[in-house]
Amino acid sequence: MTRKKLIEEFEGSPFHSIKVSTYFDAYEQLLDRFRDQRITFVEVGVLNGGSLFMWRNFLGNDARIIGIDLSPEAKRWEKQGFEIYIGDQSDPQFWRELYAKIGRIDLLVDDGGHTYEQQLVTVNESFRNMNDLGLIIIEDTHTSYMKNFGSMTKFTFIDFAKTTVDKINSRYQGIPSQESTEKKFVKSVQFFESIVVFQMSNSPLEDSFRVQNLGEKVGAVDVRAVLETRSTAKNGVIGVIKLLKLNSFMHFFINLINNLRVFFQMYKYRKYF
Ligand SMILES: C[S@@+](CC[C@H](N)C(=O)[O-])C[C@H]1O[C@@H](n2cnc3c(N)ncnc32)[C@H](O)[C@@H]1O
Repeated sequence: MTRKKLIEEFEGSPFHSIKVSTYFDAYEQLLDRFRDQRITFVEVGVLNGGSLFMWRNFLGNDARIIGIDLSPEAKRWEKQGFEIYIGDQSDPQFWRELYAKIGRIDLLVDDGGHTYEQQLVTVNESFRNMNDLGLIIIEDTHTSYMKNFGSMTKFTFIDFAKTTVDKINSRYQGIPSQESTEKKFVKSVQFFESIVVFQMSNSPLEDSFRVQNLGEKVGAVDVRAVLETRSTAKNGVIGVIKLLKLNSFMHFFINLINNLRVFFQMYKYRKYF
C-alpha cells in the first residue's frame, strides 16, 4: 500500500494545525525511515490537536504519539489514544520527570513557544534521552531573527546550533577539544529553513582519526603536499625565524604576518562570509 505524503495527512487532519509550507518537504526527507515502526514520538505544542492526528496517520499505528503542552486543555486528546503531558518546556525539572516516566524516545518535534530559552532547555534536556539515531527537530528557528522571541544577541538558538557544529568538529584529532554533551552525543546537525535537526547517539561518540586501507599505491602525488612545500619556501624568512629560538615578540610578529597573509588570500572570497 502506498502511504500518503505528510502534506496530505496535514490537509486531511480532522483538527486544525499550523505548520510552515517548507516543513513537509524537509519531513519527507527526515522521517521516511521512521514510518510503520514501533517508535516513540513526542511533539511539544498541541493547541488544536491537528498535528497529533497528522503524525499518527503519517507514522502509522505502531508509533507511540506523545503530546506536551502548557495548557491542561490538551488532556482532551487522551481520549483519542494520544499520551498527553502538561508542563512548561522551559523547566528542566519537567523534562527530567517526563523522561523518567516515558523512557527514551526516537523523535522529538518542538512546536511549542519558540523562545530561545524554551528551545535550548528542550534540546539540552533531551540530548541524553534519545534512542540511537533519534532526531531532535526544532521548528520555527526563524524566531532567532525576531526581537520579540529573545534578545537578538549572540545567544539565539541558531547561535547555539552553530556552536554545536564547532563542538562536533572538535572530535577530529588535533582540533582543540570542546568538551560538552554535544561533542559526546550529537552525531550531526542539519539546518533547513526555519528548522534545526540534531541526530543523536545513545552512547558517547569517540574522537575521530585518519584511517587508511591496505590497497595498492600507484605513485600518485598529493598536490596539496607539493603546494605546501612551495609555500613554506616562499615564506623562507619566516621559516628561518622559526628555526631560531623565538621570544614572544617574534611569535606575535610571525602570527601577525600569517594572519595578514590569510586575510589577503581570503579577501577575494569575502562575499561568502
Ligand atoms: C504553535 S502551537 C502548536 C501547534 C501544533 N503543533 C500544530 O501543529 O497545530 C504552540 C503550542 O505550544 C504551547 N506552549 C507555549 N509555550 C509552552 C511552554 N512553555 N511549554 C509547553 N507548551 C507551550 C501552547 O500552549 C500552544 O498550544
